[in-house]
Amino acid sequence: MDNIFEALRESHEIQRALCRQLVRIKPDDARAQSVFRELRIELAAHAAAEERFLYAQILLDDMGLKSSRHALAEHHDIDECVESLAKARGQHDLWPDLAKKLSHEVHHHLREEERKFFQVSGKILGDRQKQLLATKYRKDLKRMREVVAP
Ligand SMILES: [Fe+2]
Ligand SMILES: [Fe+2]
Repeated sequence: MDNIFEALRESHEIQRALCRQLVRIKPDDARAQSVFRELRIELAAHAAAEERFLYAQILLDDMGLKSSRHALAEHHDIDECVESLAKARGQHDLWPDLAKKLSHEVHHHLREEERKFFQVSGKILGDRQKQLLATKYRKDLKRMREVVAP
């Protein structure tokens, strides 16, 4: 049986792999921009679908208020790192540190979601809900990957 946490982890693994590539590639390598583009799309699509089909549910419960607010703030921080890196295009002196910062923020956020937020959420959601949210999240993620692609 599918559940929302399994579904979210699949995109987390994609994000981790893209971050690893991003920090390894030299800024003057032509692949740097395409890896960044792919990561940017995955981050934006995943954050939107996750906010809608996990965070919104958890925000409704008193037990989940603090952790969902915190996670939302981290999505915002990641957005800012993405914007900084987008602005640094062609500035090869700035790029490596900004890429490292983005990767660090993403890894931190994913680890915290998987170790803390998912545990809190697991207590709030019932089994049927976890399954239904997985289906809705997967559908929205797929759609958002098209919507957010520049
Ligand atoms: Fe996530
Ligand atoms: Fe997230």
